[in-house]
Amino acid sequence: SERTLVLVKPDGVKRGLVGEVISRIERKGLTLAQLELRTVERSVAEEHYAEHKDKPFFGELVDFITSGPLVAIAVEGTRAISAFRQLAGGTDPVEKATPGTIRGDFALEVQYNLVHGSDSAESAERELKLWFPN
Ligand code: GTP
Ligand code: MG
Repeated sequence: SERTLVLVKPDGVKRGLVGEVISRIERKGLTLAQLELRTVERSVAEEHYAEHKDKPFFGELVDFITSGPLVAIAVEGTRAISAFRQLAGGTDPVEKATPGTIRGDFALEVQYNLVHGSDSAESAERELKLWFPN
């Protein structure tokens, strides 16, 4: 069993899709280990997305992630990291995410793609420490 960090980003909270995302996580057989609704400080957002700091969209991405409350969830289960990435679908919700995935079913724009999921064991460990230091 392993843990991954899932975020329901501010667009997902504003659109009332928190229950939908949690429901899909639970129906897959994964479990919720920790969960918090919070508006994140810029420093946390910048550290979370540190790998993208030189990308042209970095400023917009940090503005967006800090724009309102999001839901951070530590999700646990067998192959949880990869299992949630599959539930989420590809980064581009039209070109890459297929219908049946969270992004494929509910999103249109790359920036507003509703959810985040850690992309590797190393990322999961780093991100869980950042979001759930206890
Ligand atoms: P995360 O789970 O959020 O990390 O998404 P990802 O792993 O599928 O994608 P990636 O880490 O490559 O990008 C992080 C986030 O940056 C994406 O989820 C998008 O919200 C945003 N993003 C990626 N590419 C672009 C882009 O070209 N333009 C804008 N505006 N945002 C982007
Ligand atoms: Mg990523």
